[in-house]
Amino acid sequence: MIQKEYTAEARLAVPELGAVTWQSPSNIALVKYWGKKPVQLPANASISFTLKNCYTSTKLSFRKADERSVKVFVDGKEQSSFLKKIETFFKRIESYCPYVNHYAFEIETENTFPHSSGIASSASGFSALALCVLSIERKAARLSDADFYRKASFLSRLGSGSASRSIYGPMAVWGRHSNYTESSNDFSIPYHDVHDIFKTYQDTILLVDKGEKKVSSTLGHDLMNDHPFSANRFQQARNHMFELQKILKSGNILDFNRLVEKEALTLHAMMMTSNPYFMLFKPNTLNIIQKIWEKRESDNIPFTITLDAGANVHLLYPAEYKQPALDFIKDELIVYCENEQYICDEVGNGPLLKTQHYA
Ligand code: DP6
Repeated sequence: MIQKEYTAEARLAVPELGAVTWQSPSNIALVKYWGKKPVQLPANASISFTLKNCYTSTKLSFRKADERSVKVFVDGKEQSSFLKKIETFFKRIESYCPYVNHYAFEIETENTFPHSSGIASSASGFSALALCVLSIERKAARLSDADFYRKASFLSRLGSGSASRSIYGPMAVWGRHSNYTESSNDFSIPYHDVHDIFKTYQDTILLVDKGEKKVSSTLGHDLMNDHPFSANRFQQARNHMFELQKILKSGNILDFNRLVEKEALTLHAMMMTSNPYFMLFKPNTLNIIQKIWEKRESDNIPFTITLDAGANVHLLYPAEYKQPALDFIKDELIVYCENEQYICDEVGNGPLLKTQHYA
């Protein structure tokens, strides 16, 4: 059913040429996606805050051609190293968007966050690209806004699982879960049943290690396949989705903190106990977490941390604590950050269409 619903007509009168630019944000998962089945189907449902300041801007220029060709420019420079991933993406989406086989594409992309910041750009990057591609289709086919964003999320997922969640703000759920109406493994859905306090959340990303990711997501997800604890982990994530739903509605920050930290630490515990095993924490990751927990205790500020599959620490807190948080970071945490760098972000509303023209 999904095949048919998401497949554009082969003879759609798509434009001859044009260009479209989308800006699409990164996101930070609260309940983590870690483990997948082919092709890009999650082992458990996940939920994230959509970010605001960390985003990718992608301009897709296209001109009809006999067969597909792709050029990629990052920050104005041609970059062939991304071509393999992008070609895999096009291969995965071509049965849903047959028109991508008949264009010469130029992709110009830039991120607001530094390349070597250790922040994954796949979520913002693939969601921006998927939105650009689908805009070509929208020019020729009647697509409601709801259908447009749903298919954009579906296509983004085929680039990178977490990218499917970047399509919606302030929060998105990806993966089928009985408590979330209309949730699906194929695409994300927007999530709004959230107490106002969570809509103000700040995410200050403390950059501990700005190097390349030590473990690619692909390898990390694969390691969950014969992980001795995977069945329990997937069950825990399902339970957490259930609990978090109530917490998000009620605004109970203490319960929120406990659940979100347990998720982050479990993600790393899974990596530490897989075969082969990985330790993605750096000494300063632990130093930062320790300091944050002490500060939370001494000043009674509801700080919480979460982590990606890397050493950087995301410090989460309601907007009303922004000033004490920034003072604390400057006074006590930047000594643990690489080159004293951190990024201030917050919950955002999702992607933005910047420019489009067709001929
Ligand atoms: C730890 O979405 O990067 O950030 O689907 O292979 O591209 P692929 O993986 P990716 O995995 C994200 C893992 C995570 C948790 C999360 O964002 O849910």
